[in-house]
Amino acid sequence: MSVILKGRELDEYNKSVYSRQWLDSSAARMRTDYYKKDHYEDTLRTLQSSGGTKVLECGIGTGEFFALELARSGKDVYGIDLSDVLLDDCRLRFRDNGLSARLGIADVHGLPFKDGAFDATFAIGVMPYMKDLSRVVWEMVRVTRKGGMVVFDVMNPLHITQLSNYWYRVFEATPAGFRTIHMLKSLKRSLGFKTNFKEKPEKVNHQLISPPRMLNILRRMPVRYTVRGYNVLLPLNIPVIGNRCNLCERSRLFSHGLRDNRLLKYFGSKLVFVIEKP
Ligand SMILES: C[S@@+](CC[C@H](N)C(=O)[O-])C[C@H]1O[C@@H](n2cnc3c(N)ncnc32)[C@H](O)[C@@H]1O
Repeated sequence: MSVILKGRELDEYNKSVYSRQWLDSSAARMRTDYYKKDHYEDTLRTLQSSGGTKVLECGIGTGEFFALELARSGKDVYGIDLSDVLLDDCRLRFRDNGLSARLGIADVHGLPFKDGAFDATFAIGVMPYMKDLSRVVWEMVRVTRKGGMVVFDVMNPLHITQLSNYWYRVFEATPAGFRTIHMLKSLKRSLGFKTNFKEKPEKVNHQLISPPRMLNILRRMPVRYTVRGYNVLLPLNIPVIGNRCNLCERSRLFSHGLRDNRLLKYFGSKLVFVIEKP
C-alpha cells in the first residue's frame, strides 16, 4: 500500500485529518513570522494591486492572512474550501475583525461560479494537495473575467529543501522509516536538542510540482503568465540539520535578488505563477 495519498483518499484525508492539523497550527502561525516572507508579502501586494474588487480565494482555510488582508484593503472577498471546520473558523475570524466574506464548501476541481465571475482568483498553499492540477488551473481561469488575474504557488522539486523534506516525509511514513527517525530523534533529544515526536506514521498528502509540469499545463491555455522564484538555490529547513543552514533568515539579501532571473528563478523553493487572462 502506497504511503503517498492520491485520488479520493487524498480528498478524504485533506477534509478530515489535514484540515484539523491546519486549524490546530493556526495559533502558532499567527504567533510567529510565518507570513512575513517575501513569497507571501509579494503575493499579497500583487493581489491588492489587481484591478477590480471581487476576489475568490480557493482553499481559503481559516482566511487568516490573505483573505483578511484583502478584505481590509477594500476587496470583496469570496472563499471556498473542502473543510467546514476551517470555514467555521474563517467566518468567526472575519466577524471578530469586523469584516465580512462570502464563504462556502466547494472543491477547486469544480468551482460553483459562472465564467468570468471574479476580477482575481487565487490559491496559496493549495496546489500541492490537488488530484488534477490541470483541471484546477482551468477552473480558476474560467471563473476569472477577461483581463483579470489568477495567482497560485507551488513547491518546487528543483530546490534542495523541498526535495529533501518531501522524501524525508515519504520515508517517515513507512513503518521502518518511522522507527529509524524515532530512534534518531530520541538520540537528538538525549544530546539536549529540542525535537518533536509524531505518535504514528502519517501518509503524505502533498506533492511537489516541477516547473516543466506546470509550464506544460499553462502553454496549452490561452493565457499570459509570469513566474517568480523565491529563495533560489538557498537551503532553508533541511531534515536533521534544521534551519541552521538558512541564510535567508539571517539576511533578506539572500532571498531577494534572483527571483526574476530568467532561468535561475526556476530553482526557487516556492514558485508563484501570476496569470493574466487576455
Ligand atoms: C495549506 S492550507 C492553505 C490555506 C490558505 N490558503 C492560507 O494560505 O492560509 C490548504 C487549504 O486547501 C484546502 N483544500 C485542500 N484540497 C481542496 C480542494 N480540493 N478544494 C478546496 N479546498 C481544498 C484545505 O482544506 C486547506 O484549507
